[in-house]
Amino acid sequence: MDHFLYRDGLLHAEGVAIPDIAATLGTPFYVYSAATLTRHYRLFTEALAPLPHLVCFAIKSLSNVAVLKLLGDLGAGMDVVSGGEYLRAKAAGVPGDRIVFSGVGKTREEMRLALEGGVRQFNLESEPEMRALSEVATALGVVAPVTVRVNPDVDAKTHAKIATGKSENKFGIPIARAREVYAEIARLPGLKVVGIDVHIGSQLTELAPFEAAFQKVRELTLALRADGHDIRRLDLGGGLGIPYTRSNEAPPLPTDYGAMIKRTLGDLGCEIEIEPGRLISGNSGLLVSQVIYVKNGEGRDFLILDAAMNDLVRPSMYEAHHDIIPVAEAIPGSPTQPFDVVGPVCETGDTFGKGRELPLMAEGDLVAFRSAGAYGAVMASEYNSRPLVPEVLVQGDHFAVIRARPSFDEILKRDILPEWL
Ligand code: LLP
Repeated sequence: MDHFLYRDGLLHAEGVAIPDIAATLGTPFYVYSAATLTRHYRLFTEALAPLPHLVCFAIKSLSNVAVLKLLGDLGAGMDVVSGGEYLRAKAAGVPGDRIVFSGVGKTREEMRLALEGGVRQFNLESEPEMRALSEVATALGVVAPVTVRVNPDVDAKTHAKIATGKSENKFGIPIARAREVYAEIARLPGLKVVGIDVHIGSQLTELAPFEAAFQKVRELTLALRADGHDIRRLDLGGGLGIPYTRSNEAPPLPTDYGAMIKRTLGDLGCEIEIEPGRLISGNSGLLVSQVIYVKNGEGRDFLILDAAMNDLVRPSMYEAHHDIIPVAEAIPGSPTQPFDVVGPVCETGDTFGKGRELPLMAEGDLVAFRSAGAYGAVMASEYNSRPLVPEVLVQGDHFAVIRARPSFDEILKRDILPEWL
């Protein structure tokens, strides 16, 4: 459920009519619903209670500091994968002891930044990385809390580009080698084991791969405890999928996911951490765009929008589907027609959808891409020198621009002409 509904014939974000935002800010823009973000975060905390737990929002899915502050103020932790994301979490007022640092290639600078600013744990992904962290921590005179991300060799049954839990993927340490790696950590002076981490992929639409991975984590917990390690936290990663269409897609709900976690791991006395991104942010956001032209092609009509692949790359990068709906509600029974919905970028890949059935559209009409809150704005670029897409947060009847559209002046100022030109 989300808070983007038609009222009086116009699409609203909570109590705000989308055309009112477009009139102030221009298009395209992302708009997020605070009520939906809050609701989705709470679904997870409710699903995991009464187990001790921390829901660490995966910042990579939606990293605007205003959104992070909203979630952080509710008590959320944050999952970060770079120094930049760490600084965003801190800028949002999230204390270090609620920030977990993931990622396959943390640099020494990033390790130092997090150790100095405070961090709940590092999720380590390789032996060279753990040796580097031990050195950095020792030089700072501190001990770094760590887990090891194990690779359980489980097929997540999702898009190949976002599956991470098979042995051929670059992520984690093969679970079969975990005991030997934990033994080495115990010998390193700058590290202290606090638990185990696993993340097998994103947009999972079945519970079985999670359960298979968590079962392996359970066995590993018992084995590592027998070896004398203090396994008190289990970080189970993110990955729960969302419905991208309003048809019959029904991925498991957070309550089912929570019940499965309790069933597989609930008796171990561990604090459970999860790192959901998409399920919290995905259906909390729309990308709103305007029709520039309706072009009649040969045997097909193109809806040329002012949003492009640089603003929302998921369709061209993963062949991802986003529902595209008119902002002015279609009158039931009125005619529709199929459109190929495209952006103005000079690539055929700049296509959002083919043969999308929409009401008859005209220049200036607004459309909205649903489920665009996750991996939308964060993956945007300025390709074709198109300004980075702005972001808006709605709460009740109010909206605020939480990232402005840069002016061309600002964009041009970033380029530097060398003296010798
Ligand atoms: N934790 C780790 C270690 C991750 O690598 C990820 C996502 C998450 C948590 C959050 O996963 P989520 O709950 O959002 O599924 N750009 C792609 C998705 C990439 C996901 C990368 N890792 C897309 O647009 O579908």
